[in-house]
Amino acid sequence: MLKASNISHNYNGDIALQNINLEIKKGEFICLIGESGSGKTTLLSILSTLLKPKEGTLFYEEEQYSNIKNINKFRKENIGFVFQFHHLINYLTLLENVQLANDLANTKKIDEIFTLLDIQKIKSKYPTQVSGGQRQRAAIARALINEPKIIFADEPTGNLDSKNAQKVFKLFKNLSKKETTIIVATHNKDLAKMADKIYEVKDGQIK
Ligand SMILES: Nc1ncnc2c1ncn2[C@@H]1O[C@H](COP(=O)(O)OP(=O)(O)OP(=O)(O)O)[C@@H](O)[C@H]1O
Ligand SMILES: [Mg+2]
Repeated sequence: MLKASNISHNYNGDIALQNINLEIKKGEFICLIGESGSGKTTLLSILSTLLKPKEGTLFYEEEQYSNIKNINKFRKENIGFVFQFHHLINYLTLLENVQLANDLANTKKIDEIFTLLDIQKIKSKYPTQVSGGQRQRAAIARALINEPKIIFADEPTGNLDSKNAQKVFKLFKNLSKKETTIIVATHNKDLAKMADKIYEVKDGQIK
């Protein structure tokens, strides 16, 4: 599904990733763990097409990334993002934020996802009127609404209590059983155990 070959990256000469080789199968649930500054976010950003690596090649279902013509269309059809900072639009309600990502999504589907994430009752509130964890779950709902083939999440449970963090990981687990590929960076080693595979990133390399 996703293959990274000899990926290296630096920020103005400071090495962030060195020679990463990875192969991720369809429906796999992968966790990236590692110390702060080890390179998790950089790797996620590269794998999710947001950051162009200084060296190396990416393949999505055999197709070389650099050959994909319409990258916006590719992202929209294939990839869901949950960022470390949620980036909801403060002038729209939680519901409207999700609808913005997919204006064709039916109410039933949105209701399902909101109920699953326990934010159904507050869907008409604005991001500034709810807690950090509730905002984070709305951002997760937004990433899921298009049913992407691959979901990338950077510290998706950072603001959540252990019960809601568990819920989010269980949701990822269930999605991976339905063939959605999930790649998550996390500091939570207990939750990471729910993944099919754990990769430790250390000094820009995978151990
Ligand atoms: N935009 C940037 N400009 C310059 N250096 C950066 C930038 N982003 C990251 N770095 C550096 O690259 C290295 C890897 O950072 P990265 O953000 O990938 O780590 P991380 O594993 O996600 O850390 P954390 O667990 O704290 O989120 C670090 O040394 C960091 O200082
Ligand atoms: Mg990070």
